[in-house]
Amino acid sequence: MHTALIGLQWGDEGKGKLIDYMANSFDCICRYQGGANAGHTVIFNESKISLHLIPSGIFHRDKICIIGNGVVIDIKQLEKELKELIEINIEFENRFFISKRAHIIQPEHFIIEKEMAKEIGTTGKAIGPAYADKSMRKGIRMGDIFNVEYLKKRGISMDFIETLVNFRENYGHFIIDTVELLHQLNRNKKRILFEGAQGVMLDIDFGTYPFVTSSSPSPGGVLSGTGISPFSISRIIGVTKAYTTRVGNGPFPTEMNQSMQDIIRERGSEYGATTGRPRRCGWLDLVALKYAIKITGATELALSKIDVLDGILDIKVAKEYQIDGELTDRFPAEVWKLENIKPVYNSLSGWNNTKGIRKQSELPKEAKEYIHYIEDFLGISVSMISNGGKRGDIISD
Ligand code: GDP
Ligand code: IMO
Ligand code: MG
Repeated sequence: MHTALIGLQWGDEGKGKLIDYMANSFDCICRYQGGANAGHTVIFNESKISLHLIPSGIFHRDKICIIGNGVVIDIKQLEKELKELIEINIEFENRFFISKRAHIIQPEHFIIEKEMAKEIGTTGKAIGPAYADKSMRKGIRMGDIFNVEYLKKRGISMDFIETLVNFRENYGHFIIDTVELLHQLNRNKKRILFEGAQGVMLDIDFGTYPFVTSSSPSPGGVLSGTGISPFSISRIIGVTKAYTTRVGNGPFPTEMNQSMQDIIRERGSEYGATTGRPRRCGWLDLVALKYAIKITGATELALSKIDVLDGILDIKVAKEYQIDGELTDRFPAEVWKLENIKPVYNSLSGWNNTKGIRKQSELPKEAKEYIHYIEDFLGISVSMISNGGKRGDIISD
């Protein structure tokens, strides 16, 4: 039976670090949606590495890593990432695979992206236009790069065909039918870890539309983005920071005042792993989290970056929303309602230090209380607590 690790907020929950930590207990790590808009940070041999397309399990040399059919691929970015990792002696042969069915981001997509980048505050990685063409049935897929005549017939420019052929010559052997591979792994009782990109609040259906991405980070995306059976996933780990961040435009009910944002941003190095943009920072939003847990069917929580709250005296959590004078515990669907939310906060006492702690029992009393408050409110247990960016910075018992 397999596991999915899914961001419950607006992305950057620390998925990369957790996937790298957990990968040891799995045989295969598979990305299922998104593209190079993702920036998953892993600290490997003391270096901070941002992965955009390659699964975060790649640093474990005996693990299979797959880019599933639901991902949209920027060939140049992928090539860059492969080269950077090969340079630091990461091996790819016989363990890295790309779905023949994954769509390719085309140069025109970057031109269309320019407008959206301003309005939505996208990452500028042409994600929207690529998924739009996929839905319009105008896209080309990784398997198509083996047939130049077909690419010409589809009106692909000779320049871009050259780029594709170049990629094929160097890396074509990675492109396979990953549905078959995943099902073979499943038959052989191998354990697969599905790596979500972005987060549920950026989901095209369930997020703060239109300020969302163009794919489904939620569990539906695992199924349509890989071809695995819904009955083969038994564990869904929802990841949340101990607070909240958001990059780009759009409603953010628990956004902190500027001075508090500056403190959290500096302590948590809250700058985009893909674009370097400063992340907007806010308090933990339990209303949004409850909704995200509903949608994902999360069976457990991973709580990351708890160390960033060390030394903050008064920690707020939103437990209800007030919209136009009415109280609600539901996350509204309409963006114009989301923009008018006044969160109702509860204040909890802070703690001094959580860094270096490896056992829950050794956490300061107030940190334990914070975690219990979250568990009680959401009705779900926290199975992993992350208190640093390195693989070993984890409290799991
Ligand atoms: P992802 O997109 O969900 O993989 O998250 P990002 O990598 O974009 O952002 C998370 C950032 O926080 C990265 O810089 C990580 O190195 C860092 N990080 C992850 N977990 C922790 C943690 O528990 N504590 C601290 N202080 N940093 C963390
Ligand atoms: P990871 O996987 C945080 C945000 C963008 C923008 C919106 C749409 O690292 O958590 P897009 O480029 O997808 O069309 O942009 O979504 N966004 C992310 N924010 N983390 C990400 O990925 C994101 N991927 C997209 O900032 O608001
Ligand atoms: Mg990120």
